[in-house]
Amino acid sequence: MAKNKTVFFCKDCGFESAKWIGQCPGCKAWNSFAEEPVAKKSAKSAAIKNFSEPQLLSNITVESEFRMQSGIEEFDRVLGGGIVQGSLVLVGGDPGIGKSTLLLQVCKELTDKSKKVLYISGEESLSQIKLRAERLGVFHGELLLYCETDLELIGNIIHKHTPDVVVIDSIQTMHRDEIDSAPGSVSQVREATATLMQIAKGTGVTIFIIGHVTKEGTVAGPRVLEHMVDTVLYFEGDNYAAYRILRAVKNRFGSTNEIGVFEMQGKGLVEVKNPSEFMLKGRPEGEPGSVVAASIEGTRPILVEVQALVCRTNFNMPRRTAAGTDYNRVNLLMAVLEKRAGIQLADCDAYVNVAGGMRVTEPALDLAITTAILSSYQNLALDNKTILFGEVGLTGEIRAVNLAEYRVAEASKLGFEVCILPQANKENIKVSGIKLIGVKNIQEVMGILKR
Ligand code: TYD
Ligand code: MG
Repeated sequence: MAKNKTVFFCKDCGFESAKWIGQCPGCKAWNSFAEEPVAKKSAKSAAIKNFSEPQLLSNITVESEFRMQSGIEEFDRVLGGGIVQGSLVLVGGDPGIGKSTLLLQVCKELTDKSKKVLYISGEESLSQIKLRAERLGVFHGELLLYCETDLELIGNIIHKHTPDVVVIDSIQTMHRDEIDSAPGSVSQVREATATLMQIAKGTGVTIFIIGHVTKEGTVAGPRVLEHMVDTVLYFEGDNYAAYRILRAVKNRFGSTNEIGVFEMQGKGLVEVKNPSEFMLKGRPEGEPGSVVAASIEGTRPILVEVQALVCRTNFNMPRRTAAGTDYNRVNLLMAVLEKRAGIQLADCDAYVNVAGGMRVTEPALDLAITTAILSSYQNLALDNKTILFGEVGLTGEIRAVNLAEYRVAEASKLGFEVCILPQANKENIKVSGIKLIGVKNIQEVMGILKR
């Protein structure tokens, strides 16, 4: 019998099946399977199979020059300390968020350091890229531009010019001729990524792949793509805020906790070296319902303002919203407040917001959320030079959190004078210039508000 030349892919998660299925076993989406042809196995694959011997770990030497710095600190940090030679990096994000701009700026910095960079665009014409580049400033080095979507040609060009870094903008426009489906479809994106991976591993060039994110939040179609690359970065931001966050969600060469903060300006993206200051801009001082919390992103302390508005409800079911933090966590904390602090929130609407558009879900924010709710409910403001952090347990106890010293140090650096923190954390902190108040439970926090 003739071999199957088509398979079915889930359009959402890339799950592959020989038959059409109504519901995807991978992501549970309904009616998401589409039939797509797959590439014929070329005779070459047998040749690749000539085997090599396993190597002793101790015999393997790593070249010291194995990372290059782009010079954009925020970018290098997210990558784990620089661009790794020969790696395949996916940069995902919503259309228009600034992915092309970011990578063009990286190209600029790299060519300024006399690296050879090839920027391949399937979305914009040479003159469009030139126009954008002109906004970003003067390019001193030599940047090669190439407008093409056919991966075979792209492969040839990469082999011919052997650049240090290649940027592919974007994976959704790339295609291979052997595959019949349209660019952007699951099988095209998969094959395109596989081709690029072979090029990266074979020639040692670093390839950055730009990918647009679907509204569901995955890089169009393929989760598969995330498995194939070495590093996945997401570039995210609020449509209403000028700042953008670059976040590593997968990194074979570093931690995935790091973030880089940028601000979109008229001349491209500008690094935000001190995000805390940025987040606290325009904070109301001495207002009930507003407190400042010390949170951690990766290994980086960021101070954020947490706001709460608690008011009598006009509905049968009180309304609760949580912007920038976890909705269920807010409900839980309100239940703890009712039970352990004895305040009546059952007939109150509550709106909680992490100002500035940041999203913080770590438990260390609990104490700030609780205090903001208490502060709004009782109409008592917390002193504006006070900062807090700590996890709140179900019995109303305040539990220790990680990296407490970093948080206190950041607060002290930004001029905060008092820090309310879990008693268990207090003992180990040696930061001068800030008064530490250790608390064990919610009642003690209420006492501080009343003072
Ligand atoms: P772009 O990099 O084209 O986004 P993506 O590649 O992720 O789709 O960024 C486009 C947006 O950035 C566009 O709306 C205009 C804005 N922008 C600036 O505000 N300043 C600038 O200097 C540049 C180049 C773009
Ligand atoms: Mg773009």
